[in-house]
This record gives sequence, structure tokens and C-alpha cells, in this order.
Amino acid sequence: MKSVAVAPAKVILTGEHFVVYGTAAIVTAVGIHSKATVSWRRDGAIVIRSSLPKCAISINERQCEILHGGQQARTLLEPISLVAQATLKESGDQHRGLNVQIESNIPVGVGLGSSAAVAVSTISAIVRLLSGKLDRKLTRRLAFESERHVHKIPSGIDQTVSTYGGVIVYQREKPFKHVVLRRTFPIIIGDTGIRRSTGDIVSRVKAFLAERDTLMKRVMKSANLISRRALVAVQQADRKRLGELMNLNHELLRQIEVSTKELDQLVSAAREAGAFGAKLTGAGGGGCMIALASPDNTTRVLEAIREAGGNSYLANIERRGVKSWLLD
Ligand code: MEV
Repeated sequence: MKSVAVAPAKVILTGEHFVVYGTAAIVTAVGIHSKATVSWRRDGAIVIRSSLPKCAISINERQCEILHGGQQARTLLEPISLVAQATLKESGDQHRGLNVQIESNIPVGVGLGSSAAVAVSTISAIVRLLSGKLDRKLTRRLAFESERHVHKIPSGIDQTVSTYGGVIVYQREKPFKHVVLRRTFPIIIGDTGIRRSTGDIVSRVKAFLAERDTLMKRVMKSANLISRRALVAVQQADRKRLGELMNLNHELLRQIEVSTKELDQLVSAAREAGAFGAKLTGAGGGGCMIALASPDNTTRVLEAIREAGGNSYLANIERRGVKSWLLD
């Protein structure tokens, strides 16, 4: 028997980084997915394979053997093996062997929550195989623990939205809330193609803000206000207002030095092509930006981002979080 789970990527509309320090953020799941297929193995090994990039490792008696893809295989897949081991341990099945096959369309290391979606789909598939059920609460908790290994001080926003889907108002230490949308709208994504580590950038921001108390207080206050206002704009599907707030949010992110020349170029190109607003999304330091535009201007904005050197595409809001099922 096999089980399968599919979990969505995410886009942060407002509030990244500041959310780590307790302010509110607005995040949405988007229709780009990671799929995990798992089955038992008799030999006690945990074998993880990924189709994009093509790589594989095997963990047996805590020894990691690279089966395919060199050192990159270890970097990409070892965190997944830890997630798999933690999920088995949780149910007292830590000595069982597993095959885990990952097929993900989410670009890695560009701010779209790839590592969280891979963890969420892997955990949910294993939980489905073990118990026949989908357990979102457990999935979110285990994914958060694994993210802590990789990102050191994650806010938990990525795992939450990948597990539960939809648009969410997220604040640390508080129950998250789903936002009821009057209408859905597409989001323009522009990718600089520059990969970076979220954990490194979050640590850099921490060091930067530690020495700037006045700036810290000012940006946190503004970020919280932007997210509160963005919530109303999202509820009303008011893209123009949301775009204006995204512009303000991008300026705050520039002030904490997480934007880059390449991100600013894509953001400016989108605005000059008539977007309602644009900002970097995720940790910054490279990775992706997002923009909102009217339906008749969307193609122009997509092209402007491409001309400025980015890879651009449209993503839809994904209402559903992780789903899982059994295969015979
Ligand atoms: C990463 O997707 C978002 C950050 O705010 C980090 C976090 O919240 O864990 C940069």
C-alpha cells in the first residue's frame, strides 16, 4: 500500500520578517504544489527520492548514503529524512523503513515556501499511511519542529498556510485566522532566479535590528498597521488598496536591508507597467517579488518583469491546504 499527500506553496502578501517579532502578517496558499508518495520498506532504511532535481539518499542506522545527485542530494533530502524519522518516532514506529518520493513544482530557495510544503506533504503522507487519516494539527506541529532545524527562528507562517490553505492572518503565539474572501484574484510572481537561505537572512535581520532600537520599534509598528489594513483590502478584494499597502511594505523591507538590486528592478518594472503595487515576498535577499494588476493590465506587467530580467508567471489563491489519500 502507498499513500500520497499534496501541499501548496505560499506567498506572503504583507508582514514577512516583522512576523518573526510578533507583528501580524497576511499570507496565502497558492496553486503550486509539492507531492509526496510513501510506502513501507522491509529493510528498515529510509530512502528519499526527488524528481526535480533528480536525486536520492538512503538513511540506514543513522548513516546517510548518497544514491544519486552528489552533495546536493544530501543538502536537499537530509531535512526530509529528519521529518520522516520524527513522524515515525511520534507514533512509536521509529524502526520501520520507508520509501519517500517527492515531486515538487515549487522552486527551491526563492521565498515560496518550498521546504515547508515538502515537509507538510511528507508528514501528511506518512500519517495517512500510519493511521489512515489526515491530521492537520500534528502535521503543522511536526513541520514547525523540522523548520526550526533549518531556519532557526521560523515564525511558523509557512507550515501553517501549507497545512491549512486559503488566506490567513498570522501572528505568533495567537490562533491563526482564515480570511473570508469576497472574490479571489490572481497574483503575479516575478522570480529573480537568485537562491538564498531563509535562515541566514532571518539571522542577518536579527543582528541588524539588535543594534537599531528606534528603527526596530518604528518598522514593527508600521508593519503591523499595514497588515491590519491589508486584511480589510483582501476581504474586499480591493487590489488597488492592497497594492498601495504592498508598496509601503516593500519600503519597510528595504529599510531592514532585505531587498536587492534585482528585486527592486522587478518591483519598479511592475509598478511602471501599471501594477497597483509590488513588493518582495518571503525572506528577500534574492528570490521572488509579487505584484497585483487589473485584469487588462496583467499581461503587460508580466512582460515588464520578464524584460527586467525576471521569470514571471501567475498564481491563483489555493483555498485547500494539504490533502492526502491511500493508494492500493
Ligand atoms: C519566510 O517565508 C518568512 C520570514 O518571515 C521567516 C518566517 O516568518 O519564518 C522571512
